[in-house]
Amino acid sequence: MGTFTIEDGVFRLNGEEFRLLSGAMHYFRVHPDQWPHRLAMMRAMGLNTVETYVPWNLHEPRPGMYRHLDDLDRFLDAAAGADLHAIVRPGPYICAEWDNGGLPSWVTGRLRTSDPEFLAHVDRWFARLLPRVAEHQITRGGNVLMVQVENEYGSYGTDAAYLRHLADAMRGSGIDVPLFTADGAEDHMLTGGSLPGVLATATFGSDPVKAIDTLRRHRPDDPLVCMELWIGWFDHWGRGRVTRDAAEAAAVLEEVLAAGASVNIYMAHGGTNFGTWAGANRDLETGAYMPTITSYDYDAPISESGAPTEKFRRFRDVLTRYNPAPEPPPALPVLPPSTVRLTESAALLPVLPALAGPPVAGPTPPSFEDLGLDHGLVRYRVEVPGPRGPYPLVVDGLHDRAHVYVDGVRVAVLDPVGQKEHRTVEVSGPATVELLVESLGRLNYGPLMGERKGVTGGIRHERQYLHGVTAEAVRLGDLRFGDAGEVPFRSGTAAAVPAFFRGTVTVEEPADTFLALPGWGHGYVWVNGFCLGRYWSIGPQRTLYVPGPLLRTGDNEIVVLELDVAGEPVLELRPEPDLG
Ligand code: GLA
Repeated sequence: MGTFTIEDGVFRLNGEEFRLLSGAMHYFRVHPDQWPHRLAMMRAMGLNTVETYVPWNLHEPRPGMYRHLDDLDRFLDAAAGADLHAIVRPGPYICAEWDNGGLPSWVTGRLRTSDPEFLAHVDRWFARLLPRVAEHQITRGGNVLMVQVENEYGSYGTDAAYLRHLADAMRGSGIDVPLFTADGAEDHMLTGGSLPGVLATATFGSDPVKAIDTLRRHRPDDPLVCMELWIGWFDHWGRGRVTRDAAEAAAVLEEVLAAGASVNIYMAHGGTNFGTWAGANRDLETGAYMPTITSYDYDAPISESGAPTEKFRRFRDVLTRYNPAPEPPPALPVLPPSTVRLTESAALLPVLPALAGPPVAGPTPPSFEDLGLDHGLVRYRVEVPGPRGPYPLVVDGLHDRAHVYVDGVRVAVLDPVGQKEHRTVEVSGPATVELLVESLGRLNYGPLMGERKGVTGGIRHERQYLHGVTAEAVRLGDLRFGDAGEVPFRSGTAAAVPAFFRGTVTVEEPADTFLALPGWGHGYVWVNGFCLGRYWSIGPQRTLYVPGPLLRTGDNEIVVLELDVAGEPVLELRPEPDLG
């Protein structure tokens, strides 16, 4: 048993003055078999603590149905085994470039407020989660030092009763270590997001002296903590890669520590947005929708595949002046470069009914949420009466991408990236119109959060709504391909896209590799049933990280779902990532 307290403005660990040298790593973005390696890397960089969020939507996929809850227990134990303390940020909102900021897509009520409907969902979840977190506290022999209330709430709202409710739920669940809030180092964020009697911390990436001064002005008696020092950044599809110079980032880290502050490096190790877990942003001025890429490398000191970077060496130089560190573990092996022939295929549209739940019919198109679908594909079908001449087909509220078919022929792809709503093609009647709508990430930040997926308005012919819509939903990218049922593959790769393609790679010794699909368009890849995430020729990301533990000695199955345009039926396994 130990203690972690705040006394006279300083942290004390078992009575001794203590400075948090923390780094963020999200257990849900790294294959569990690789946690020990990544945590050893963090310890070797000079950190004494690891920080993780908890994504509610991963753990409660349907109301009252829970899964993978012991991942957090195992991760905290692994951190303790790597000689690291822990900070837990259970949300319920986490931002984090994670789908919907961690809120389940089914959640109802006014998000992130004290609305009783929303709180009833939060309370049910927290009643499951918080007692587990309490078990790992330092006061009970574990390694958890602190627990966060919400996340940058001051960037969102001013509902102090909501924050108070969350803090009370934490205390009521037996959490007795210090609680804290984290907010941008600005007056409106710190006043909206902090709570009297609860430690306030700041999040920032540059100008640390100014940020720390602002925090000190608001909380002269609190220990100074930068709860997120953004030393890199994330990327959006179709935009250039964002990186941050290692020497410059190390200089900022040095300034934070020289000012006497504690720090949590965001991210120490970013990992991957596997499956359909990547979030998205929307530009408030232009309305442009910007889905986040699959990699969450973040230009962090420990790369997506766990390799030390220039930033790692520079950060280690700074951190080990404050905290001695062991040598990094040996580098992990990679597979030799190879190509994999895709030898089988199955067109998607003919097999879609077998993969989908029963069709749903109604006057207007149901959203993904109406269909109980978090992510995947929905085929909407509607009749255009006739005879009538050509008029524009209008889709109101399309989220996010649609392939448009008229009488079975693909006539357009409606692409939201960088555009606003409403897109049109000309159609004559009578005709059957089908929209194959694919969801990309849900917004994880900002006032527009909570947007629904699919067609959330209506399908119109000129001004006239086309009524009588059927919808078939296919879940994609959740943990297992098997969720979507069996695909009847045939040998040969002639199937017209959208289609599944399959190949086999024989591996002597499993190791990491980086999968590329040159000449292919946009889709998803599964390795032995595990969805790696989305790929997209618009970049910036060109390779998908394949963690070695997904592979086995002998034959391994690779399935590609290509939605846009198939390339040569060969994919590449490369020894190096290409993130653009
Ligand atoms: C904020 C959030 C984090 C993350 C970063 C950007 O600080 O708190 O969850 O979204 O922005 O990477």
